[in-house]
Amino acid sequence: MTQHDRLLIIDFGSQVTQLIARRLRELNVYCEIHPYQNVTDAFLKDFAPKAIIFSGGPDSVTREGSPRPPQAAYDLGVPILGICYGQQVMMQDLGGKVEAGQSHTAEFGRAYVKPADARLPLLDGWFMDGSGREQVWMSHGDHVSELAPGFEVFATSPGAPFAITADPSRNFFAVQFHPEVHHTPNGRTLYQNFVQLAGFKGDWTMAAYREEMVAKIRDQVGDAKVICALSGGVDSSVAAALIHEAIGENLTCVFVDHGLLRLNEAEEVVGMFRDHMNLRVIHAQEQELFLGELEGVGDPETKRKIIGRLFIDVFQKYADEIEGAQFLAQGTLYPDVIESVSFSGGPSVTIKSHHNVGGLPEKMGLKLVEPLRELFKDEVRALGRDLGLPDSFIGRHPFPGPGLAIRCPGEITREKLEILRKADAVYIDQIRKHGLYDEIWQAFVAILPVRTVGVMGDGRTYDYACALRAVTSVDGMTADYFPFSHEFLGETATRIINEVKGINRVTYDITSKPPGTIEWE
Ligand code: XMP
Repeated sequence: MTQHDRLLIIDFGSQVTQLIARRLRELNVYCEIHPYQNVTDAFLKDFAPKAIIFSGGPDSVTREGSPRPPQAAYDLGVPILGICYGQQVMMQDLGGKVEAGQSHTAEFGRAYVKPADARLPLLDGWFMDGSGREQVWMSHGDHVSELAPGFEVFATSPGAPFAITADPSRNFFAVQFHPEVHHTPNGRTLYQNFVQLAGFKGDWTMAAYREEMVAKIRDQVGDAKVICALSGGVDSSVAAALIHEAIGENLTCVFVDHGLLRLNEAEEVVGMFRDHMNLRVIHAQEQELFLGELEGVGDPETKRKIIGRLFIDVFQKYADEIEGAQFLAQGTLYPDVIESVSFSGGPSVTIKSHHNVGGLPEKMGLKLVEPLRELFKDEVRALGRDLGLPDSFIGRHPFPGPGLAIRCPGEITREKLEILRKADAVYIDQIRKHGLYDEIWQAFVAILPVRTVGVMGDGRTYDYACALRAVTSVDGMTADYFPFSHEFLGETATRIINEVKGINRVTYDITSKPPGTIEWE
C-alpha cells in the first residue's frame, strides 16, 4: 500500500481545529488530528509527519501546566505552523515571551494585517489585490510580547504587532490569527504555501483512496462474511459500495424498513443497490413491529429509544441468519473518530439520544470494518461518485435514523404518516422544480398534532396543519432557516392543500439552530 506523506495537527482544543484538516484535505494532503496529550515522543516517531501544525486552543500559555507539544516536535526538523494558541506555545517554548490578556490588547473578530518589509514564501499570493492588506480572523486574549531567537516579523495588525512571524531557517511559522476559517478569505493560500514548502505531493485523492482501501479491506476481511446495515444515507451506501468492490458476494446488506421512511424510499434504495449495483440486500419488512410498539407513545425520547432498541433486535435477527458473518460494516466518518480535547472534563449535555447501531458489534461478537474512518463528509461524497453512485443519491439531504417518527410530534398514527409522506413528496418536488435542492442542507415537512378549521369549496374542513422546514448548514451543528420567496411558499402551500387530503393549513418554520434544532423532536 502506498504510504502518503502525512501532516500532523496537534490539537490544543480550538473549536475550529477540524477546519484546518478540511483545508488541508482540500489540497489533497493527508493529515490527522491528535490531541496534544497523545502526542508523545514515541507517537511522533511512529507517525513520522512531514510537517506539523499546532492548533489554537482556549487555554493561556502563561498558566502553569497549560498544554504543550513534546520537545521532540521541534527536533524533528520538519516545518511547523503554529496558529493562535499554537503560535504562543511555539514562541514561549523557543525562548520568546507571551503576556496574559488585557482587555486593550485582546482581539476578537475581523482584523487586517499588513506586510512588514521582509518577504516570506509562506505569504506568496498575499497582499496582491492592491489594497496592501489582507483580512484575517483574530481570536486571542494573550499576545506575544517578545519573539523567540531566530524569528522575524512578516506582517502586523493594529492589535498584533506579531501577526505573522517566522524563523525561515527552520521553516517555523507562527500566526496570531486563524487562516482556516472563511473570515480569512485568503487562508487557503497560506496553507497551500505551507504544504508546498514542506514538500507534499498532493497525492491524497479519492481515486487513490479507493484503490488502497479495497486492498486494505481484502486484507482485513479475507474470505470472511461481512454484514452492513444499509440506511439509504450517503455514508452507509458508500461504505457498502466500497466493501462490495473489495469482497463482492461476501457482503450482505440489511435494509431495515421500520415503516417510517419517505414515499417510495425503501423501493428506491433496495432497487438501486440490488438491481443497479448488484449487491446482496435483505429488505427487512418490519413495519408492523415498529409501528405496533410505537402505538400510543408520544414522548420524543421514548420514541427514539423504542426505535433504537427494535432496530438492533431486528438487525441482529437478520444477521443471525447469515452464516459465518464475522464483520460488521459501518459508515463511521472521521469527525466521529477525532478525540476531542475536553477542558471542562465533564460530558456534554445530551440534547437528543441519537439512533445508531452502537453496542451492536460487542453484543454480536463481530469485528468492525469501517472504510470511511479517515474521511470527511465531502470526501465520502467524492468517493461515492468515483464508485458510480448516482449524483442524485450522493447529494441527498440527510435523513435521521428514527425517520418520520421525529417529524410527527406526539403520537404516531398510520394516517398521519400517510399524510406526511404525501406532503413531503410535494414539498421536495417543489424544491427540485425551483432548482433549490442543492442550496438547502435539509428540507422536510413535519405534521403537527393539531387539527384546524378551513373551508374548501362550500364545505368546512377540520384537518391537520403541517410545517415546512428548510435549513442551510455546514455540518448540522448550527443552522439557519432557508429564505424562500413568498411566491415559492405560496405556491407550495397551495399545492399541498390541494393535493394532500388531510392537510388544510401550511406554516413555515423560521427557527434557527440554536435555539431550535433541525428536527422537531
Ligand atoms: P437536530 O434535530 O439535532 O439534527 O438539529 C441535526 C442533524 O442530525 C440529524 N438527526 C439524526 N440523524 N439519527 C441520525 O442518524 C438520529 O437519531 C438523528 N436525529 C437527528 C438531523 O436530521 C439533522 O441532519
